[in-house]
Amino acid sequence: MPVTNAASGTNVHEIADGLYRINTPVALPGGLGFSFNQYLVVDEEPLLFHTGPRRMFPLVREAVASVMPVARLRHIAFSHVEADECGSLNEWLAAAPQAAPLCGSVAAMVSIGDLADRPPRALADGETARLGRGGVTWLDAPHCPHGWECGFAFETRTKTLLCGDLFTQPGGGTEPVTEQDVLGPSEAFRKQMDYFAHGPDTAGLIAKLAATRPALMACMHGSAWRGDGARLLAALGDALES
Ligand SMILES: [Fe+2]
Ligand SMILES: [Fe+2]
Repeated sequence: MPVTNAASGTNVHEIADGLYRINTPVALPGGLGFSFNQYLVVDEEPLLFHTGPRRMFPLVREAVASVMPVARLRHIAFSHVEADECGSLNEWLAAAPQAAPLCGSVAAMVSIGDLADRPPRALADGETARLGRGGVTWLDAPHCPHGWECGFAFETRTKTLLCGDLFTQPGGGTEPVTEQDVLGPSEAFRKQMDYFAHGPDTAGLIAKLAATRPALMACMHGSAWRGDGARLLAALGDALES
């Protein structure tokens, strides 16, 4: 396994052409394993989705540097405003002088325009940012699973939904990509710790995500998942309603 830090176990895998998953396993109180993933899209304008928590920055920087020079990064993107999503945003902006935050319009207006050391590029719902060979289409998803500013990015070239906290699985996420069931483990985890806001339009937002017909789901916690993403999202929608 391409481990980039022996002490933390941080590792990097190319899970689709030019799409790298950076994984750091962590131990939670009580002995439960958990993991934090970031995704690096290498294109003419490279993009990092999720910065990782601020204290994890040296590990994630080391992992990105194993793939390409960190200073090449142009977009630091994330789903919503939380430490694991964007806690080290300013450290990345300092390390990559040409990079800017990339997020939804609510995140830009409410938080990132103030928190970030450089102004964000805000994407409207359905707007695509060109990266080169591919691009990312922003999908607003307020309060799904949480955060008014929440949204996701669909990478058009690899048909990957950068799906943040959706399908959060416990454990170290040692398998970079799985085709096995992730809904069962993530629903079992959600039953213990329900991180969904259960907003009024959750079903509609899940259906909007499913309409992108993703072939790969880039989860922040646990393994990424390859398969019929529309079907998986529909099953999540059913589970949330039951
Ligand atoms: Fe979150
Ligand atoms: Fe998260």
